[in-house]
Amino acid sequence: MTEPQTVTEAKPVKLPTLPDAQIVTDVTHWTDRLFSFRVTRPASLRFRSGEFVMIGLMGDPDPKTGKQKPLLRAYSIASPSWGEELEFYSIKVQDGPLTSKLQHIQPGDEIILRPKPVGTLVHDALLPGKRIWFFATGTGFAPFASLLRDPQTYEDYDEVIITHTCREAGELEYGRRLIEDLKSDEMMIELLGADNLAKIRYYPTTTRETSAKMGRITDLIRSGEVYADLGVEPIHPESDRAMICGNLAFNLELKAMLEEYGLEEGANSNPRHYVVEKAFLD
Ligand SMILES: Cc1cc2nc3c(=O)[nH]c(=O)nc-3n(C[C@H](O)[C@H](O)[C@H](O)COP(=O)(O)OP(=O)(O)OC[C@H]3O[C@@H](n4cnc5c(N)ncnc54)[C@H](O)[C@@H]3O)c2cc1C
Ligand SMILES: NC(=O)c1ccc[n+]([C@@H]2O[C@H](COP(=O)([O-])OP(=O)(O)OC[C@H]3O[C@@H](n4cnc5c(N)ncnc54)[C@H](OP(=O)(O)O)[C@@H]3O)[C@@H](O)[C@H]2O)c1
Repeated sequence: MTEPQTVTEAKPVKLPTLPDAQIVTDVTHWTDRLFSFRVTRPASLRFRSGEFVMIGLMGDPDPKTGKQKPLLRAYSIASPSWGEELEFYSIKVQDGPLTSKLQHIQPGDEIILRPKPVGTLVHDALLPGKRIWFFATGTGFAPFASLLRDPQTYEDYDEVIITHTCREAGELEYGRRLIEDLKSDEMMIELLGADNLAKIRYYPTTTRETSAKMGRITDLIRSGEVYADLGVEPIHPESDRAMICGNLAFNLELKAMLEEYGLEEGANSNPRHYVVEKAFLD
């Protein structure tokens, strides 16, 4: 596997010129379809781990008027609410209006960030429980990259199970590294506690490239394989809470499965057993 390519700059060199601009401080390319980056955090921005914001770049000038409009898309904040900077984990869609350009950002560049965080993948939308399941496909890992670094996750639950399903093994790398670093980084161990970090059970699977665990997580739950592999009891509404973030078909399938187990969907205004958010529109 090729090493991820990271470009870091210690200090931003330019002052922002766009409205709501933030400066890129670090970019890592994980595969030809995935990259992560960090930007400065607006001093006034408060958010809850798991929420998303609108980010983007200025669009091309209108051929008639020459005017430029911001080109914005929803992005989960992958860093925790206590982080000094903001991290994002992104797809590169070759003909995508935003990511065909965003994939070329470099430290020192500006991006636009609208400081209005929203979202359902927040602890406030769940009732207390013993075990939390984070179910992700593809870039749906991003909100969990935030929640896995949030002390509240470990205050609220005895067990934290994160499943991540991707087509290919290389697409798991951002998540795998993040969890590995979390468990070995001294600052993280001090902040979150070694006992708390030991609560994390990481369950990565691939569907189109051979890896240690193959298959869609939905099929692995149906067959009971995931429970056997982790040595845990099946999902039950008394003990289990869940957050889902993936493509639409995945979200709907898993939602129906959780409902069959007796779990009910929660919201900020009505905390229940599970919450769900799309990783992208489609
Ligand atoms: C609530 C929410 C949170 C989101 N968070 C993230 C995030 O953290 N990271 C991220 O990369 N994207 C995220 N997205 C998707 C993001 O908003 C954009 O769609 C994405 O950046 C591509 O933008 P684009 O303009 O290049 O292409 P678009 O015109 O937006 O999309 C073109 C096509 O690319 C595919 N696509 C778009 N996004 C993805 C994706 N993430 N994974 C796989 N295929 C995709 C779809 O088939 C889509 O029709 C989120 C979307 C929503 C609704
Ligand atoms: N990933 C790539 O290498 C790649 C390359 C070029 C273009 N694309 C395009 O990019 C878009 C997004 O691709 P993506 O791979 O990021 O995301 P994706 O298609 O959402 O797939 C991500 C993972 O979710 C699984 N999955 C899909 N539907 C599911 C369901 N209903 N229940 C359980 N698991 C489910 C997939 O398994 P399955 O494999 O079984 O579907 C895959 O492992 C697609 O339009 C794709 O054609 C992807």
